Amino acid sequence: MDIRPLAAAEIELTRRVRARSFGRISDADWAEAVRTAQPSLAAGRYLGAFDGTRLIATARIHDMTQWWNGRAVPMGGIGGMAVAPEERGRGVARRMMAAVLARCAELGHPLSVLFPATSPLYRSLGWEHAGAQHFVELPAEALRTLGPAERISVRQAGPDDADDVVAVVRNAHAAARDSGPIDWGAEHWRILLGEDDYFCYLAEDGFLEYRWGDREETLQVERLVAGSERTLRGLWAIVGSGSSTARTVRACVSPQDPMLWLLREQAVQPVHREPWMLRVVDAPAAIAARGFPAAVSIETPLHIDDADLPANTGDWLLTVDKGQGRLEPAPADRGASRVDARGLAALYAGVPPGTLRRSGLLAGDAAAGDALAAAFAAAPFSLDFF
Ligand SMILES: CC(C)(COP(=O)(O)OP(=O)(O)OC[C@H]1O[C@@H](n2cnc3c(N)ncnc32)[C@H](O)[C@@H]1OP(=O)(O)O)[C@@H](O)C(=O)NCCC(=O)NCCS
Repeated sequence: MDIRPLAAAEIELTRRVRARSFGRISDADWAEAVRTAQPSLAAGRYLGAFDGTRLIATARIHDMTQWWNGRAVPMGGIGGMAVAPEERGRGVARRMMAAVLARCAELGHPLSVLFPATSPLYRSLGWEHAGAQHFVELPAEALRTLGPAERISVRQAGPDDADDVVAVVRNAHAAARDSGPIDWGAEHWRILLGEDDYFCYLAEDGFLEYRWGDREETLQVERLVAGSERTLRGLWAIVGSGSSTARTVRACVSPQDPMLWLLREQAVQPVHREPWMLRVVDAPAAIAARGFPAAVSIETPLHIDDADLPANTGDWLLTVDKGQGRLEPAPADRGASRVDARGLAALYAGVPPGTLRRSGLLAGDAAAGDALAAAFAAAPFSLDFF
């Protein structure tokens, strides 16, 4: 089996594998997929596994950026991992994902994220559950009356507003010290803001993207971010203003979204959770790029065992100070906290050390746990699926 980046024309070979793995693909959808795949193909981000000239598996590495405690960290987002049905059950996906991981390192992504259809495959290569995309439902009427006393200034956003949307969304995630959301660039927004099916509104410090839901009388909020209570109230009230024709609002939100604390009644039902997994690809770079709480100052030895990326393996000193983290090679320390690649991913994502210890993902000096917990505390979520 030969695993390598696909040449541009070879994208056509992936259609059959993808259709047999993810469902029917119309000609129009395929044309669009081919068009949007061009930059990935040119950058060697679309991998194929070949048996002779036959393509038997494919996967793609999206060039993305993800917020971690209010700082944007470069990340390789894995999508479209698929093996031809007749080749499954003999380790093809595992070999493919090992190649994907090596390619992520080559491309210089400190982190990698994926939405798993099944966990063991990814766990075996060091990805671990880190967060989820959360969907809740609530009556539109509960939002209608949330508006602030004074109307907020808001305008319908179109493709020409892409740069403003980038800035507003960025400011909101950075100020909230969010972990997990994707930091989309202007090109993403220019396309989305041009689609008639999405209703987008821009305020000075907030952005709303919603549409009609898939079920009757339902509105679907894809993204609502705001930097102030007033804007938050104003934007949710715009969604709620549809209550005469849409009884229910389904919204993708953080489980700590401030809207949940604004509602008068306990009207919110969790309806769906789409988990995602994280892999720390380059440990020192990932720590240096992540945000940390400014009030936390720690210095603690950390031993990492990373069977698939040996550059991460070894004895390190982890320092967090003034909101910045550093991982530097250090002499072995018998009191060091010890993690493998999965433990490191879960720690990075803010899973509490008490949980990691009891699930076998963290060992070593128990006293270091409080310091690690304070430094990495996070409640990662996602507002996107890929
Ligand atoms: C999921 C998929 C990629 C697995 O491909 P594969 O070549 O059969 O996988 P491998 O043989 O390399 O198996 C790797 C590990 O995953 C496990 N695994 C494979 N398919 C699985 C499934 N459907 N459910 C649970 N575990 C599965 C294997 O048991 C193995 O774990 P083990 O070594 O602990 O036994 C393939 O079935 C597929 O393309 N499915 C449709 C598309 C899809 O779901 N893609 C994943 C998107 S995230």
